[in-house]
Amino acid sequence: MKIGDTVIRTIQGDITEIDSVTAIVNAANNTLLGGGGVDGAIHRAAGPKLLEECRTLNGCDTGEAKITGAYDLPCDHVIHTVGPIWHGGTRGEEKLLADCYMNSLKLASARGIRTVAFPSISTGVYGYPVEEAARTAVSTVRKFVEDCPNKMDEIVWVLFDSRTKAAYDSAISETEAEINRAGHTDTGSVKIIGFYHEYDGYGCFSNWYSAPFDYAGKHFAHSEQFMMYHKVMMFGKRDLADKIMRTNDPGKCKSIAGQRFPEFDSDLWNRTCYTVVKRGVRAKFAQHEDILGILLGTGNAILAECSARDSKWGIGIGIENPASRVIAKWKGQNLLGRMLMEVRDELRQELKASPDGKLVYIDAVNADPTEEWNMTAGELKRIPQFYNTVSAYGETITDPNLKDSFYNGNVLSRWEALMKAGADLELPEAGFFELKQDIYDIAERLNGNSR
Ligand code: APR
Repeated sequence: MKIGDTVIRTIQGDITEIDSVTAIVNAANNTLLGGGGVDGAIHRAAGPKLLEECRTLNGCDTGEAKITGAYDLPCDHVIHTVGPIWHGGTRGEEKLLADCYMNSLKLASARGIRTVAFPSISTGVYGYPVEEAARTAVSTVRKFVEDCPNKMDEIVWVLFDSRTKAAYDSAISETEAEINRAGHTDTGSVKIIGFYHEYDGYGCFSNWYSAPFDYAGKHFAHSEQFMMYHKVMMFGKRDLADKIMRTNDPGKCKSIAGQRFPEFDSDLWNRTCYTVVKRGVRAKFAQHEDILGILLGTGNAILAECSARDSKWGIGIGIENPASRVIAKWKGQNLLGRMLMEVRDELRQELKASPDGKLVYIDAVNADPTEEWNMTAGELKRIPQFYNTVSAYGETITDPNLKDSFYNGNVLSRWEALMKAGADLELPEAGFFELKQDIYDIAERLNGNSR
């Protein structure tokens, strides 16, 4: 991507080996005295003099940046910045991560440095979800380049693995599309595909579209039924859940779940719904080759739920309104559009990894425990790829002692055995087997196994 005279791109590799930039950025910790990950790699490659200089800097606050020489590294400077540790996005992590990029670039340009390489800050040990980090990183770099034109010739991310690189490439292509389209209609290298009614063009992207699928031992008529079932079950409303499962009418599912009930906690639902709903949306496309083909056939187009009334799952603008094709004019978060784009990228990767080019669903509820299922929830949560799914269930446990016991007591397979034996655990059964299914699926993807 190019903004003005600045080239913004990604490569896959080891940041300590890049010799085409003046400064590389280190994802350090507050002491600036070295650590693991990219921090450890940079200190090892630079040699002991880097640590000696770092000792004189008296540490660094999260979001701030400090500069040193590079010593045995093939560049001239190292800019040390400290990313936020991910706590679920509720402690200002996005702003702090943006500050890392903004302050590093301001520091570089103040020293006349015009070429900078970044790692994927905070997405390793600090557990920041890669896709979200990539979006924040790219939008901050874009803001710097637009606010301070002609200060940088090149900004490059050096990414250690293909999945991380895919996340930054996706963020760059979305940003490129926004820039191409700011003020224009549907033109430029990447287009916007709007959808709404399940019976219109691209209707299969709607949650109301009839595409039955299985998930965690249950059968759903469509992803609207999946979403509404889990929305009421999260708060123990089994009577409403049973009613939802007895109708295939998506409108009825929505109205049953829309009934006000005192147990509903909108904050909890807002914190967990994206992870929960994405399980169903992914299963729907993974179990229907025809609509999966339509989804993958959209290339890297931006998918937009054009709902005039929904500014959470949709863009808040109707499909007939030309403004729906101009991202700058959107009024909503487009969570469903975002989710479909993530599922599209993930299933595209999974298909590439499967020898016969097929995705086969295996119900994990009765599957033997995997290595991950024989870990405690606390151990699993420290692995970035499992953070969201474990948290989505952990958040539903309100009693702090029970929550601590869930995370640090039994391994998950033991909790399952107790639950299946009918022990009175007080652990919410709702979502537990969905957690198992999600962990099973993620582990399969990470191990590159095709099922
Ligand atoms: N080159 C490029 N990227 C790398 C390299 C390398 N040599 N080594 C690791 N990475 C990647 C990781 O795979 C991850 O995608 O850098 C990204 C950031 O991971 P971390 O290094 O763990 O950084 P972060 O998540 O910000 O955690 C910082 O970890 O290393 C310690 O001292 C550091 O306490 C601090 C914490």
